[in-house]
Amino acid sequence: MKPTTAFTTLCLFFVSLLGVFAQLASALPVNGKRDVFVPPVLYPHNGTVWKKGQRHNVTWDTSNAPAQITNAIGEIRLAQAGEPIFPVILATGFSILDGRIEVEVPWVATASDYSVVLFGDSGNFSPAFTIEGPSIFDGDE
Ligand SMILES: *[C@@H]1O[C@H](CO)[C@@H](O)[C@H](O)[C@H]1NC(C)=O
Ligand SMILES: *[C@@H]1O[C@H](CO)[C@@H](O)[C@H](O)[C@H]1NC(C)=O
Repeated sequence: MKPTTAFTTLCLFFVSLLGVFAQLASALPVNGKRDVFVPPVLYPHNGTVWKKGQRHNVTWDTSNAPAQITNAIGEIRLAQAGEPIFPVILATGFSILDGRIEVEVPWVATASDYSVVLFGDSGNFSPAFTIEGPSIFDGDE
């Protein structure tokens, strides 16, 4: 193959690749058919203090849920300083229409810049809160 022929072949390859991407993009749901649902996290909020090993209900607002949700299966992860801490998963496999899910506070380092991330259609961060402890009393709220 002459270099120019190779270049032409390469160009044709990328052009066909673009065509594939265009097709994929048009196969995605049209706006309005299915809505992205990003429910705001209500608890924990700014000022919340959790102790390691306690159980708490993470809650979120489901009042503006659309009729059709792209992904109704929720997952809650822990984040610190705005970055999800993988692979810490606090809860998974619940419906994001539930509005709450009980989680156990993980044994992470004491800090005041934690947040929970509610994943469904997209990740929605709670305000920053504190994890400290451990809890001395059983059932301490
Ligand atoms: C959280 O509360 C603290 C103290 O009350 C305040 O300084 C801070 O600005 C608050 N942060 C947010 C995001 O509301
Ligand atoms: C979470 O909420 C459920 C239902 O309201 C309740 O039964 C459960 O005791 C709560 N868990 C905690 C840790 O408060």
